[in-house]
Amino acid sequence: MRRFLVAGNWKMNTTKESGAQLAQALASEVPSENPAVEVLVCPPFPYLTTIGDIVTGSGVGYGAQNCYHEAPGAFTGETATEMLTDIGCRSVILGHSERRHVLKETDADINLKVKKALEAGLQVILCVGELQSERESDQTEAVLNTQMTGGLAGVDGAAFGQIVIAYEPVWAIGTGLTASPEQAEAAHLYLRNWLKDQYSAEIADATRILYGGSVKPDNAKELLSQENVDGALVGGASLKAELFIPIIQAAV
Ligand code: G3P
Repeated sequence: MRRFLVAGNWKMNTTKESGAQLAQALASEVPSENPAVEVLVCPPFPYLTTIGDIVTGSGVGYGAQNCYHEAPGAFTGETATEMLTDIGCRSVILGHSERRHVLKETDADINLKVKKALEAGLQVILCVGELQSERESDQTEAVLNTQMTGGLAGVDGAAFGQIVIAYEPVWAIGTGLTASPEQAEAAHLYLRNWLKDQYSAEIADATRILYGGSVKPDNAKELLSQENVDGALVGGASLKAELFIPIIQAAV
């Protein structure tokens, strides 16, 4: 049985004060022992320590939205995985569509980060997903195959205890256009079968696959009830406790 994970990707949003208020509200709502659902927030780097201090001791974990693939050194502006673990960070989102399509990260770039984050003991949330044009031209599975193959190149099956996959159709991110439960389930089933074919049935069965793309309180329950949907990676709705908490509750 895969434990649900509901993660909030705050992206480049909040202030120190508003982020702290949001974190406090979530920490108050999510008990320290919450076996049914794993809850995670991923604030912007400047506030990661502040948020981490607030949620530590609650049922809310904290993660980063990116990392660099080198050890600490002369890499201006970058953040090492060692720094993330140093502040008690337990997860990192990698391969997000905004890193791919806005910041121009390649599958090879993402793969270097995945391997470094795994080496550091971090939980990796690897994002994959197709563009509208790719879906409309029936390339969804080909795109997911390319991104999974590239992102996980050289990753040993033994590392999958640290790996979560997030399917985020790019056309559903921030648009209010949520994938239908059927569309989400079809993509998740493809990814589950990909893991089975490329790794093993055991890894496929144990690896959590999150859905991301306009998850809201009114669509969360139906999405999360799909057989191969093991949680949600939430953007906009994670920035308001009154929206994020109902999504967590829908996962229980
Ligand atoms: O990483 C999650 C994010 O890309 C989804 O954003 O605003 O559509 O929930 P949103």
